[in-house]
Amino acid sequence: MSFIRECIVTTPRADGSVHIAPMGIHENAGQLIILPFKPSATLDNIERDETATLNYSNDVRIYAGCLTGHRDWPTCPTDIIKGVRLKNCLAHSELEVIDKVDDDIRPKYICKVAHEVTHAPFHGYNRAQFAVIELAILVSRLRRLPQEKIQQEIEYLSIGFDKTSGPREQEAWGWLMDKVASFQASQKEKPA
Ligand SMILES: Cc1cc2nc3c(=O)[nH]c(=O)nc-3n(C[C@H](O)[C@H](O)[C@H](O)COP(=O)(O)O)c2cc1C
Repeated sequence: MSFIRECIVTTPRADGSVHIAPMGIHENAGQLIILPFKPSATLDNIERDETATLNYSNDVRIYAGCLTGHRDWPTCPTDIIKGVRLKNCLAHSELEVIDKVDDDIRPKYICKVAHEVTHAPFHGYNRAQFAVIELAILVSRLRRLPQEKIQQEIEYLSIGFDKTSGPREQEAWGWLMDKVASFQASQKEKPA
């Protein structure tokens, strides 16, 4: 049985700068599987170094920020692998690739956990955090989903968001909704 962890993957680029991307990591029989779509910077970096770091954070601005051009989150070097992690994450796992299944669309990088650290306590779930992560997924698929479906999902997600959001979730939601609005405006400008 596979389980998916939504988390933030950090990898160093060839020039030493940091790449940050939200990804759904599959967990199966003690192994963690990263599935980046082709092409992607995360894929290039994992392919080169055969390592990656999973960051667990309840600051959902990081998920929203990666899709809306706000990627300047503080990072620091990892402990064991050649890598980087988010400085303010609640916990992180340092991964080493042990196997790879190539694919034209979405290769699989099968990893083992080389090192894992908890940095701060987890204080529970919030419906607005879930809503922001779901909206971030919608934004990552704006070109592939029908407009009607996007609108319906936003209406549903707004219910939990409106009831439970704090300043971080509101900032993240605002970035994502701006992106939805500019995408919708660009579609209207297109000649029929
Ligand atoms: C919650 C969440 C989960 C995601 N999971 C994946 C994933 O498993 N694989 C993937 O390629 N992109 C995933 N995405 C989309 C990527 O984060 C986004 O396309 C990103 O730009 C990846 O490309 P990059 O490595 O070039 O930045 C996810 C996005 C969100 C918000």
